[in-house]
Amino acid sequence: MKPTREINRAKRYSMKLFDVYPLFDIEIVRGCGCKTYDATGAEYLDLYGGHAVISVGHSHPHYIDALAKQASNLVFYSNSVVNSLQQRLADKLGKASGYDDYQLFLINSGAEANENALKIASFHTGKKRIIAYSKAFHGRTSAAVEATDNPKIVSPLNANEHVTFLPLGDIDGTRRELAKGDVAAVIIEGIQGVGGIRIPTDDFMRELRRATEDAGVVLILDEIQSGYGRSGRFFAHQYSGIRPDIITVAKGIANGYPMGGVLISPKFKPVYGQLGTTFGGNHLGCAAAIAVLDIFEKDKLVENAAKVGEYLMTELKSVPGIKEVRGRGLMIGIEMDYPVKDLRYRLIKDKHIFTGASGTNVIRLLPPLSLTIDEAAQFIKSFKEAIAE
Ligand SMILES: Cc1ncc(COP(=O)(O)O)c(C=O)c1O
Repeated sequence: MKPTREINRAKRYSMKLFDVYPLFDIEIVRGCGCKTYDATGAEYLDLYGGHAVISVGHSHPHYIDALAKQASNLVFYSNSVVNSLQQRLADKLGKASGYDDYQLFLINSGAEANENALKIASFHTGKKRIIAYSKAFHGRTSAAVEATDNPKIVSPLNANEHVTFLPLGDIDGTRRELAKGDVAAVIIEGIQGVGGIRIPTDDFMRELRRATEDAGVVLILDEIQSGYGRSGRFFAHQYSGIRPDIITVAKGIANGYPMGGVLISPKFKPVYGQLGTTFGGNHLGCAAAIAVLDIFEKDKLVENAAKVGEYLMTELKSVPGIKEVRGRGLMIGIEMDYPVKDLRYRLIKDKHIFTGASGTNVIRLLPPLSLTIDEAAQFIKSFKEAIAE
């Protein structure tokens, strides 16, 4: 497969795209359920969900119908007037997630969700130091990127020494930092995605909840990748039974329509004008997000993620040549003891299967939550063949 630069050079565009993505030379033009199709009509099984974004499957009829109906009425009007779709979404999300006593603030992406969560914590405590964990990924903007453990994507403008990184699971270190009295928030992913599908233990999560409560520090759960049913529970942190102060969501919330959300405990009182957005919570986005929750309920997608995820984990654990399999539900990391770049290429080129990667040695599975056992079995068969080649 040709790298991007060659593709762009071959075609003489008058305006070039800012070339930050190393692309596979495939154009996906259509999707249906867990299948996608390129311009020649070739079919690809989607074990990647466009990076954990496709939750209810590609082109679900109810989703398409809801978007088409809303688009024919109204796509957007500003947050200066009542938009009852926002309240309908909040009602449904509160019920589906078990957080109906929380408040919802809507924005457009995961990074924005974390920016707003960190701002709420800082306004609330009057403090500005943040604790985050090794291998964390929280987004690419301002405070979110500062809390991301990857110096390569933190520009000098973002490097403001607000964030202290600790090893994931280090409760003693966390307590020591909290005791200094200057921490606004601890931010942690329900399951680390970009970091290689690393699951904080349930004990650590419970200790962390206790420690942040004792210290009066805001606990932010970034469920942008691990949330919205992906782990087999609505939120990954619900395996530990804790209730964080703030939860951030994006990716699967609207099945590809750009949207993010912040779920905020009732202890935070809203202040007019303190937060705001032009596009966040717009009519079309709300219609998409409501349709997603309708489908979750009707098609029992959280339960399906648990069931098909369990099947995949069990099958993968018996495949020879894999170093380790980690995951919950349909968020699975397959660690090999060699770089997986060529294996991913073979999976796409020869088997027509999309997967993701984390770092060099981990294949990441983030399929639509509607993946069937048959499709999962098709993946296992192809994966075994691909690693044997
Ligand atoms: C855990 C987590 N937080 C935040 C983000 C940032 O989301 P977005 O790309 O929508 O800004 C991501 C994206 O991969 C993520 O996985």
